[in-house]
Parts: sequence; structure tokens; C-alpha cells
Amino acid sequence: MEKDRAQWSSHVSFIIATVGSAVGLGNIWRFPYIMGKNGGAVFLITYLLLIAFICVIPLCCELAIGKLFKTDTVNAFKLINPHFKWFGWLCILTVLLIPCFYFVVGGWILNYIWIFLAHHIPQSFGDYFTSYSAQIFMPCFLTLTFLIMTAIFPYRGVNNGIEKANNIMMPIFALMLIVLAIFAIMQPNAVKGLEFMFKPDFSQFNKSMILTALGQALFTLSIGMGALITYGSYMKKDTNIIKSAYTLIFFDTLIAVLAGVMIFPIVFSFGLEPAAGASLVFISLPEIFSKLPYPSLFGVIFFILLFFAAITSGISIMETSIASFIENFHISRKKSTIIVSIIIAFISIPATLSFGILKDFKILNRTFFDFLDYATSNILLPINTLIICLIAGWCIKSFYKQVTDNIWLQRIFNIVLKFIIPLILIPVLIYGL
Ligand code: PHE
Repeated sequence: MEKDRAQWSSHVSFIIATVGSAVGLGNIWRFPYIMGKNGGAVFLITYLLLIAFICVIPLCCELAIGKLFKTDTVNAFKLINPHFKWFGWLCILTVLLIPCFYFVVGGWILNYIWIFLAHHIPQSFGDYFTSYSAQIFMPCFLTLTFLIMTAIFPYRGVNNGIEKANNIMMPIFALMLIVLAIFAIMQPNAVKGLEFMFKPDFSQFNKSMILTALGQALFTLSIGMGALITYGSYMKKDTNIIKSAYTLIFFDTLIAVLAGVMIFPIVFSFGLEPAAGASLVFISLPEIFSKLPYPSLFGVIFFILLFFAAITSGISIMETSIASFIENFHISRKKSTIIVSIIIAFISIPATLSFGILKDFKILNRTFFDFLDYATSNILLPINTLIICLIAGWCIKSFYKQVTDNIWLQRIFNIVLKFIIPLILIPVLIYGL
């Protein structure tokens, strides 16, 4: 085990780091476009219900497992039962696959910061994005640059790297988001955008939306791959799990909603399509920025904001596998960071190229990039989450005592964890797959 296991230096640092992990591209890039595609307010309601009542349970489980065993994901499951070690590795596989598409988007962000900074604003962002993402050299170079920029922080350690990065980047991020959201609601047709977000049209409700909302909820809260077990393992002994979980949920949701408030009023004011999909943030929004009085200013603020969100999540994604490699292969933190980076680099290159020369290479009818996103969010995360709940509920004696001291809360938690969660997750999974 890592000698003298690191600890967050304060409770606030722990919260900022977990919020930094949770708040990422999931909130600002994925959430608005998925909500746009799934009918707006109805999706938002489904998503909020799932987060508040369902996802909070596995979230508490992961934090409590981390706090209890004070070790990495693989060892934590091994300590519960040696037969569960394979499941720890399944989590690590998941968390190794996520950055392989996540960091591709990170590379696009770097490129957009550059074009706005250098005033190289193209005539049409639609044409630009399609031709840029289809190139070979530049996108691959920037995916790898983003990977290296992220890896620097876990390389430097928990307190000197991860904690410092979050403590600096997250407050700046929050400030930029508030400024842009205020600007957005001052736009002429903003009300239409807000209506789309908050006025439900129940005819839009459909069953497959539930799995999409669940996948999004798990992804955005970083649940289902051991990231929170790892961050929880650096937690102080007296940390209150339920309170921490709801604080995390509160901030993550607030930021996702603020991101929507920043994006949809602009989209409606300029007569764009809310269901534009993954390109919403890279085509529609920059298109609008380029028509504003200070295009570079808005473009730079928005993409730096996105960069901070992506890198603080990327750090937690990498730290999860780095911590497991350190403890299971008995190697130093530095070596582990390098090995994990090399693995991610190898898989993220074909993902980057799947918008160009590899666009016809399909798995399950999807490009490699889309396949990684789909396989992790819609398959691996829900399955892992179900297994984490089953293991915590049925294989750790009196697990509920780890979560809270309140007898009533313990009873409710125990019943929900053991019976209600499987009863909900299993059908959602079967139906969704
Ligand atoms: N929660 C992050 C986001 O919303 C993504 C993430 C996934 C982070 C898995 C850590 C682990 O972008």
C-alpha cells in the first residue's frame, strides 16, 4: 500500500475535489445536448428524481467504501471478498475507457481556445468543425496534449497536485459560468429557452429516456467506476457521508442547470436547434459568439470554462486507475501515472481519428468514439453501479452503519440499498439494452 496514505487537507478541499470530479463535460457539453434531444423539461424532471432518490445511494456507497477501507478500488473489493477483485478491475477498465473519448473533446477545447485567442475565427463553424475533426495530426496532437496537461496533477500527488488544481480552477470556473449565464438570460428571446428547460411537455416522455437519464446521472456524478471510492479513501475519519453526498449532488445539479440556462436562451435567441446533438457546443455556440460584439472574449471565456471543467474531471478519472496501479503492481506514483497515460494515449488515438480516416470503422453500428461513450455510460456504468450496490448491501456486514449514525436513516438506507435499487436498476438495464 502507498505509505502514509494521503488525506485531503480540509473538508472544503474534499468537497471542491469531488465537485471538480463531478462537474465536467458531462454537465456542460453532454447534459444540454442530451436534454435538447430528449424533450427538455420532462428529461430534466426525470433526471432530477433519479439523482435525488436513486443515485444518491450508490454515491454514498462509493464514498463509504473508500472511507472504510482507505485503499484503491481494486483492493477495496478484494478486502470485501477476494473473489470480488475482478470487479475492481472491471471498474478500472471502465475508468480507463472513459478518458479515451473524454480527452478527445479536451483536445477540441484546446483548439477552440486557440482559434478564439488568435482571432482565427472561421466563416462557418459547421464546416470548420467537420473538417478540423477529420484531420489526422492536429486533433491527435491536441488529444495527447490534453492528456499530458491532465496527468501532471496526479503525477505531483494528492495534496500538491490534485488538491491545488481543484482549489484554483473550480472557483474561477464558477465565476465564469455565472457571468455567462447572466449574459445569456439578457438575450432577446431568452424566455423561450427557459421555457424549453422548465416547462414540461409530458407527451415527450418515453421509456428509453429513463436509461438515458440514468446513464447521464451516473456519468455526471462520477458514479460506477470507483472514482469516488478513490477520492473517498483520502477523506478524514469524521466526514459525514450523506451530507457530503447531497452537497456534491447540489453543486453538480446547480452547475448542470446553470449550464442549460447559459446555453438554451442563446440557442433560442438565435433560432438554432436545441436537439443539435454533440455539436451544440462546438458548432452552434461558437457560431453565436462570432456574431457578438467581442467574439474572442466570449469564445475564450466559454472554452476556458469548459477546459477547467474537463481537466478537473480528467484528473479524478486518471487518479482512479493510477491509485489502483500503485497499490496492485507496487510501483511509484510517477511510474503509475506514466503507464496509465500510455494506455490512454493508445486507445484515444483511434477515437480521435474516428471523425476522419476511421469514420467507417464501426462497432455495434457506432464509430469508435461513439461506441466508447455508449459502452461506458449506457452499459458499464449502470451495470457497475448495480454490482456496487449489491456488494455493499449484501456482502458487507451492517454496511448502513458506515453511512450514517441516525438509526432511522440507517433503516431506510438499508432497505433502499438492498431491495429498491436492484428492483429499479435491473428492469431499466434490461429494457435499455
Ligand atoms: N463526472 C464527470 C463529468 O460530468 C465525468 C467523470 C466520469 C469523472 C467518471 C470521473 C469519473 O464530466
